[in-house]
Order: sequence, then structure tokens, then C-alpha cells
Amino acid sequence: MAATATRSSSILRRSLLYVPASSQKMLTKSLGLTSDKVTYDLEDSVTPSLKLTARDQLKAYFSALEARPSTISELAVRINAVSTPFALDDLAALASAALVDAVVVPKVESAADLTFVSDVLRHVAPERHAGGSANPIKIIALIESARAVVDLASICRASPYLSGLIFAAEDFALDLSITRTPSLSEFLYARSAIVTAARAAGLPSAIDLVCTSYKGDEGLKRLEEECAGGKSMGFNGKQCIHPNQVETVEKMFAPARMEVEWAVRVVIADEKAAASGRGAWTHNGKMIDAPVVRKAHAVAAKAEKCGFDVPRLRTKWKHQDPE
Ligand code: COA
Ligand code: MG
Repeated sequence: MAATATRSSSILRRSLLYVPASSQKMLTKSLGLTSDKVTYDLEDSVTPSLKLTARDQLKAYFSALEARPSTISELAVRINAVSTPFALDDLAALASAALVDAVVVPKVESAADLTFVSDVLRHVAPERHAGGSANPIKIIALIESARAVVDLASICRASPYLSGLIFAAEDFALDLSITRTPSLSEFLYARSAIVTAARAAGLPSAIDLVCTSYKGDEGLKRLEEECAGGKSMGFNGKQCIHPNQVETVEKMFAPARMEVEWAVRVVIADEKAAASGRGAWTHNGKMIDAPVVRKAHAVAAKAEKCGFDVPRLRTKWKHQDPE
């Protein structure tokens, strides 16, 4: 197997915004948007009659693009499913574009789908996939069927370029003949399985379902509830269909202010506790030991990537002592 550099790298992917590649207007508009990951879609937002037009349009768009906009961290392309006649040509047309950071592969059914995509990537962009390359095109797999959920362990081992899993609710509901409800309880098993499998395989991201409500106060309320639920299950980001969802998603999937203050206080107090030989100590009446301290470090590191001024907080809490 080739280098596994993508596995250990830490990637901030809170929002993943889809942009239908069939819309020239939205392609152009996407350059002015802010999102951790913009994903140009060739799959289900593009009707079959526009598949070839969308692919050509997207290829021309990437050819004309000189640099990734600074407000976007990653640029990805969602290809058509490996089982369709479009997938190979989608990859051939777009994986050679230098500014494509990742391909999102829909309807992944088994490890074989990702083996296929990896082989094509090595063929189309050999220099980016030679052993030891620091800049391979990463693969993000959409899990949207019962079969994929029961095969998660092998899917996660299928490619050294695999860098994340995404749960897609609408196709999953279709596959299981179930109906999506606001509580999302019907997806609990699949979502937990995906987060757990991604974590077990050391993948940098697990991205939650789309909130299909995007208009007005009701849409915002539903989005916030879904973000809170997904974050509490361990997802680190969420798919977005509309630019107006991105800010809320990024805010909700960043550590909360109180959580960051807690983390910084624990880290500082632990430095003092460790210096005096105490492995277990107390903060605000609660026992703190190694796993809690590791969690505090992880929260502080993520907070810094999400724009919190952690050094300033460290100054604010420099007198924090262990109880
Ligand atoms: N990417 C880029 N621009 C987008 C956008 C997107 N995902 N969604 C909306 N916009 C733009 C619109 O073009 C419009 O631009 P304008 O102000 O210059 O006219 C502006 O944002 C406001 O859009 P709005 O009128 O609120 O929505 P809409 O009716 O144009 O589109 C959707 C609504 C849902 C059809 C559209 O957001 C969309 O296609 N989303 C992506 C769907 C998708 O990719 N699905 C597959 C993955 S689940
Ligand atoms: Mg789907």
C-alpha cells in the first residue's frame, strides 16, 4: 500500500458546501463563498441530460482557476457513482486538475469501489500518487446504503487516500424504505456506525447528513438542532446545500466558547499539577486525569484552528491552579 500521509494529517472540515456543476452561475458564485470545503457536484444535482455539459463546464472552470480562493480550505469534485457509465470519465477529466484536493465518491457500496477510484487516480495523476507524495488527491466516501454500513470496516481499509466518510440520509432512507423524521432517530445506528468506523480507521473526518430545510427561521432552527445532534455523536462537520447554512455549521462544529475556556484552564492547571507530581487532581469539583487532559489539549488545538485566540486565553487564565 502507498503512503498513508492523508490519514494522520489533521484537516478542518466543518462545512462541505455542494455547488451543482451544471450551473455556470453557481460555479462563478462559488469563488466568492467561504467554506471549509467546496464540492462541485456532478452527481445527483445534475440531470442525466446535463452530465456531459456539467463535466465540460467544470473542467473549463478548473482550467481557468489560478489559485484556490483564500476563503475556501479545500476544493473537491463529487463524481458520479462507480456503478454508472460516467465515473471513469469524471475522474479522467477532473483528477488531473492541480487545484482539485479531493474527490467525493457517492454510493460507495464496497471496498472495490474505492480500489477502482484509487487505481484511476494513480493513472490520471501519477505524480500526486507516487509513494511518499505529500499531496495526493484525497477520497471522501459517501455511505448511503445498508450494504455500505455493514461493510464499513473494509471500506475504511480500501484506499490509502481515503480521508473521510460522509453519511447521506436521502439515499439511505430510500434503500431501507424508511422516512426521514425531524428527530433523525431512524438514522441513529448508521450515523453512529460511520463515526465509529472513521475514528477506528484514523480518518480525519466524518461528515453528517444534509439539512434539507434552508429557508427562514424554521430552516435555521432545524439546522442548529441537527448540528448539535451530529456534533454530540462525534461528527466533525456537516454537508451544506446552500451558502446560508455554512456560517451556522462552522460555528456549531467549532468548540463552544465555554468549552475552550475550560480546556485552556485544564491545560494550565495540569502543567502545574504535573510539575508537582500529581496525575489526578480536581477542577471545579471534578476529577481530572490523563484522558481528560488529552481531551482538553485536543479542544484547545481545534479551537486554535477554528480561529480562537488561544494564546490570549492562556494569558487570561495563567493563574489557574489545580484544586
Ligand atoms: N452554491 C453556489 N451558489 C448557490 C448555491 C450553492 N449551493 N445555492 C444557492 N446559491 C446562490 C443562488 O444562485 C443565488 O444567487 P443570486 O443571489 O446571485 O441569484 C443565491 O445563492 C441565493 O439562492 P436562493 O435563491 O436562496 O436559492 P435557489 O432557489 O437559487 O437554490 C437550491 C436553492 C437548493 C436549488 C440550491 O441551493 C442548490 O442547488 N443547492 C445545491 C443542491 C445540491 O448540490 N444537491 C446535491 C447534494 S445534496
Ligand atoms: Mg445520495
